[in-house]
Amino acid sequence: MDGKGGKLYYRGYSIEELAEFSTFEEVTYLLWYGELPSKGELREFSRKLAKNRELPKELLDVLEMMPKHAHPMGVLRTAVSFLGNFDDEPVKTPEDVYEKGISLVAKIPGIVASLYRLRMGLELVKPREDLSHAGNFLYMMFGKEPPKSWERAMDVALILYAEHELNASTFAVMEVGSTLSDYYSAVVAGIGALKGILHGGAVEEAVRQFLEIGDPERVEEWFFNALKNKRRIMGAGHRVYKTYDPRAKIFKKYARMIGDKRMYEIAERLETLVQKHLSKKGVNINVDYWSGIIFYAMGIPIEFYTTIFLMGRISGWTAHLAEYISNNKLIRPRLQYIGEIGKRYIPIERR
Ligand code: ACO
Repeated sequence: MDGKGGKLYYRGYSIEELAEFSTFEEVTYLLWYGELPSKGELREFSRKLAKNRELPKELLDVLEMMPKHAHPMGVLRTAVSFLGNFDDEPVKTPEDVYEKGISLVAKIPGIVASLYRLRMGLELVKPREDLSHAGNFLYMMFGKEPPKSWERAMDVALILYAEHELNASTFAVMEVGSTLSDYYSAVVAGIGALKGILHGGAVEEAVRQFLEIGDPERVEEWFFNALKNKRRIMGAGHRVYKTYDPRAKIFKKYARMIGDKRMYEIAERLETLVQKHLSKKGVNINVDYWSGIIFYAMGIPIEFYTTIFLMGRISGWTAHLAEYISNNKLIRPRLQYIGEIGKRYIPIERR
């Protein structure tokens, strides 16, 4: 990750080339094993993923029991934690991590799609082994094969979300993993971190902000009011990128192709103002700005967008966890205490 140059590479390959030519399955293989797979390796890896898609009946019962208003990321946190109870031996080697990883990476899209269908009062759809990871997700969600353009846009979204160095959620996963806890506990920690609106949750807030603006003619007034009220533009700013996020450039192309024209225009006008007035402070458009426009056009409810982010990012979490525990050291940062020491205890009646 090159925050000054605005570049991102996965195992040496530029994100632009991967988004152009690769698939989520291939990128996951690359992140886990360090090299692009041969045809046979990719076939075998994709087959294993497809074979792991089926959700246990008990898990579907859990999804049904969840409160209807619960945020889908919260439900996913519970679902992953529940699955962990079937498979909670500690992970000691990268192979342990990958074995559990393949099962969870394969199941997350089905969990999200099933939750969506339960909430819509629709019958659940069984996974299909002959579809791609992205295609199967949309199929399980909408009950029919998606248009090729949607399948590709979803595949690219998962590729772009798959990995991003030591972001807050990846660190949370590694920190829990470093205790030699189990894989699922580490992923649950990552889900908790990714859910926050300063991290993955910003993808939902960005779309809500476009809806709140509502009209391209209102963008300018809205933007200056936001600045005056010290309100943050969601989908802008990044701790490491001080340039336009390279992933956002690719998402923008798909938002233009698939997104609602009016929402796209609002976003484009707001983007111009962000780049003109905030980029000098290092605040630029980030990964979460354009992606929600694509999901919105597909008819996916806004509160589900962070779960799509997670569907991609779990690949990167798994790769980092496997790498870290192969030469593990307990992560234990220190804090500096500021204040008096050696104070005398005062009995409660005398305080
Ligand atoms: N809109 C307006 N101003 C902003 C924004 C924003 N989105 N982000 C930062 N700034 C301003 C701050 O107000 C501050 O200005 P000041 O120096 O005049 O007080 C300056 O830029 C630095 O801000 P910090 O909060 O110190 O920067 P930090 O690196 O801690 O913040 C963060 C990064 C949390 C992502 C921030 O930019 C933000 O809140 N963005 C909106 C939420 C968002 O889009 N998050 C997704 C990030 S990408 C990801 O995690 C997937």
